[in-house]
Amino acid sequence: MNITRIYYFTGTGNSLAVAKKIAEDTNAELIGIPSACKNPQPIPKDASVGIVYPLYAGGLPNMVVRFLQSVSLADAGYVFFVATEGGQMGAPASQIQRLSSAAGHAADACWWIQMPDNYIPLSAPPAIPEQKAMYDAARHKAAAIAEQVINREKHIEKMGFAGKLMGLAYGPFIKALPKSDEKFIISSSCTKCGICVSVCPAENISLADQGKHLWHHRCEGCLACLHFCPEEAINIGKKTELRSRYRHPSASVSDMLQQKK
Ligand SMILES: Cc1cc2nc3c(=O)[nH]c(=O)nc-3n(C[C@H](O)[C@H](O)[C@H](O)COP(=O)(O)O)c2cc1C
Ligand code: SF4
Ligand code: SF4
Repeated sequence: MNITRIYYFTGTGNSLAVAKKIAEDTNAELIGIPSACKNPQPIPKDASVGIVYPLYAGGLPNMVVRFLQSVSLADAGYVFFVATEGGQMGAPASQIQRLSSAAGHAADACWWIQMPDNYIPLSAPPAIPEQKAMYDAARHKAAAIAEQVINREKHIEKMGFAGKLMGLAYGPFIKALPKSDEKFIISSSCTKCGICVSVCPAENISLADQGKHLWHHRCEGCLACLHFCPEEAINIGKKTELRSRYRHPSASVSDMLQQKK
């Protein structure tokens, strides 16, 4: 029996929920990409390897790119990717193929799954009934993906028109993300609880003696800090002040700690 290993990156739990469902159905081991970047481990011979991540501006998050640049997939027997995304843009197949081939094994499959959009600088998250409908559809598609992974099927989903348009913004957008923490504003409702520090997958936040936030400019833009803050004390300009926060109902602070352990 081949080993299946799924690497995931998540800011608000959508990608984790999808990774968990596929792992459950394929009997896979789950490893957080922040953790794998810190403690690299070789891929077992002939393993099926999955990468589950949120789509950022029509492409892969910086940390996922760095992970793929550091890992060797040469020993893998099957490689698949699953994007979760707020829209219906498709999967960044060209970027995936480029990175995956350079890592030693061209991707055999890539899929995308719609989930609630967590990018609240642009728009509010969908209403709860809409979120529930998305979770149901997502579990359905994840189960179908798991079947195909077990059978090592080849299946490449590509970008649609909207995704290709968004892809034009990917380069400048992703390059600006590490310093995007300069835009975070902490309100007076901050209790200095440290949850934002705990959930950050990039170890990008620390609290100074007086509880002042220090941002280290290696931000991934995942918005975990903003969405997990129990006081809603983190904002990006004025735009996010009136928008509700989002996180997948099954995602906890300890899940976020686990992803980088
Ligand atoms: C920085 C950033 C950029 C995003 N860009 C896109 C995008 O281009 N297209 C899209 O459909 N969703 C986009 N989203 C929404 C997320 O891809 C989506 O909500 C995803 O499921 C979040 O997964 P997570 O909870 O695992 O972090 C973006 C979210 C963030 C934080
Ligand atoms: S999670 Fe919110 S309340 Fe807690 S320290 Fe961070 S900003 Fe302050
Ligand atoms: S600072 Fe916030 S947005 Fe940036 S990587 Fe950390 S949790 Fe994500």
